[in-house]
Amino acid sequence: MTSTLVTGIGELTTNDPELGRLTGAALVFTDRVEWVGPASSAPAADARVDVEGRAVLPGWVDSHTHLLFAGDRTAEFEARMAGQAYAAGGIAVTVDATRAASDDDLAANLARHVAEAVAQGTTTIETKTGYGLTVADEVRSARIAAEHADEVTFLGAHLVPPGADPDEYVALVVGDMLDAVAPHVRWADVFCERGAFDEDQSRAVLEAARAKGLGLRVHGNQLGEGPGVRLAVELGAASVDHCTHLSDVDVEALAGSDTVATLLPACDLSTRQPLPPARRLLDAGATVALASNCNPGSSYTTSMAYGITTAVLQMRLTVEEAVTAATLNGAKALRRTDVGHLSPGARADVHVLDAPSTTHLAYRPGVPLTHAVWRAGVRRR
Ligand code: NIG
Repeated sequence: MTSTLVTGIGELTTNDPELGRLTGAALVFTDRVEWVGPASSAPAADARVDVEGRAVLPGWVDSHTHLLFAGDRTAEFEARMAGQAYAAGGIAVTVDATRAASDDDLAANLARHVAEAVAQGTTTIETKTGYGLTVADEVRSARIAAEHADEVTFLGAHLVPPGADPDEYVALVVGDMLDAVAPHVRWADVFCERGAFDEDQSRAVLEAARAKGLGLRVHGNQLGEGPGVRLAVELGAASVDHCTHLSDVDVEALAGSDTVATLLPACDLSTRQPLPPARRLLDAGATVALASNCNPGSSYTTSMAYGITTAVLQMRLTVEEAVTAATLNGAKALRRTDVGHLSPGARADVHVLDAPSTTHLAYRPGVPLTHAVWRAGVRRR
């Protein structure tokens, strides 16, 4: 494969524990990062790109999205902005539209959103089922998702479909649905929240998924305090996502675990929730990731930069903490060691900002700053 030498780098964020953040550096990559070091001693390569003083960093790792959907919920958003509370029941609107859509329409909608994310610097993306909620619809969601996303999560336990008996539905999820979907996915998730699945139901789903060999993720503590974080930590989930309402016990549990606290600030703003206690989590020693939670109901954005800007301006993270959360820690939330950093050997996911430093992500809020993107060494923008 062709090698590319990147020169003229204003600031290079590697996320490598030894290399850190460099100035005067150059980078050589094929589909992997081959070399990082001082520009003055860069080896020759097949091609050379001068980025003229711009900042270079790893591509974003968006570890939480729901992109397998059809339909639109603008009216629900407008009602919310007029004062109505966010309720998980809106999920059912998307379930109806998703069930009615053709495979081609679902795939096209997913591909369009993935392309939109890549154009903004996202090079690894997770997405979920969860708007099908029948065996056939969950399987086709998983199958289509696996064609377009890096990581796929089974979220049959997103909502008890209207009219279904909760116990019967959980039995379906942990039985026939899990059996049929498991071959297509790496992860399983449950929406552990009042109005969705309670602690016992969530535990049943997670334990069944674990027994099938799937990794675990949890939607927890989004709309109020509850058992989600505790359960995620107890069962060794890779990530517990939302974490908007946390007790001190939750924060301590996360700090003493390998479970990543994945924060979704775009969702909290769009649903008029408080922003998650990111500073408390970091100060306690928890691993914090940021993700977009792109979905048509609670967070309709593919922008990782928006989450970073919010984390810095409103959640009091440093720019470095926020960038780490959206790259390296997103990778940790997906238990991936090949992405989220630019150490030699990492996948060549390279994001060039149209700015001299990552500080501009917060200093210039709302300005599209992605200048160039390579994913696995292939130019995507
Ligand atoms: O992560 N919380 C549950 N699921 C999504 C919302 C999905 C929807 O409203 O359609 C979330 O916010």
